[in-house]
Amino acid sequence: MSATTDFIHVFEPGTDPARPPVLLLHGTGGNESDLLPLGRMVAPGAALLSPRGQVLENGMPRFFRRLSEGVFDEDDLRRRTDDLAAFIRDAQARHGIAAPVALGFSNGANVAASLLLRHPGLLRGAALLRAMVPYAEPPAARLEGTKALLLSGAADPIVPAANSERLAGILQAAGASVKHHALPLGHGLSQMDVALTRDWLAAL
Ligand code: MLT
Repeated sequence: MSATTDFIHVFEPGTDPARPPVLLLHGTGGNESDLLPLGRMVAPGAALLSPRGQVLENGMPRFFRRLSEGVFDEDDLRRRTDDLAAFIRDAQARHGIAAPVALGFSNGANVAASLLLRHPGLLRGAALLRAMVPYAEPPAARLEGTKALLLSGAADPIVPAANSERLAGILQAAGASVKHHALPLGHGLSQMDVALTRDWLAAL
């Protein structure tokens, strides 16, 4: 059985119709409020749609279950990804918004990568901050016309450099237009992430 697609969320209408809506996807332990300030900073005037992950790990919200750090429950990931896709479609109809660009951090970036691969065309693009390859055997997807920004940390203790390289390669091979920057950082975000994401979104 599928979980409800009625995610707890925040929707902030946009003031600049030229900007695509931004889907904000928080990291483990975050919630729907977490990334609103980042969203406003990198996409001023854009509509913001920010759901809370429906899985709880020791009380911490996430977008899907994991078996251990970096090891995902892929059946759950597939199901939760499809629920999130249904929520996005529903929110688009309800609020009259175009296909959003995702901005995900960590667990939120991983579910955004899964959305790209399982629901090509749903997202206009995705900024994936500290993302990993979400599936041991990623599904084949056609992502021509989709843009992706990958910001990885060269000293990230959670995401090995080779893993983010592999994700960039998978998206590229699927036809997405990919920009990947390996920053001299760990798993946490910095002003570099803010500036690169803002510039990438402005050029979408
Ligand atoms: C995940 O579980 O999605 C990744 O390990 C990142 C994290 O949330 O720590």
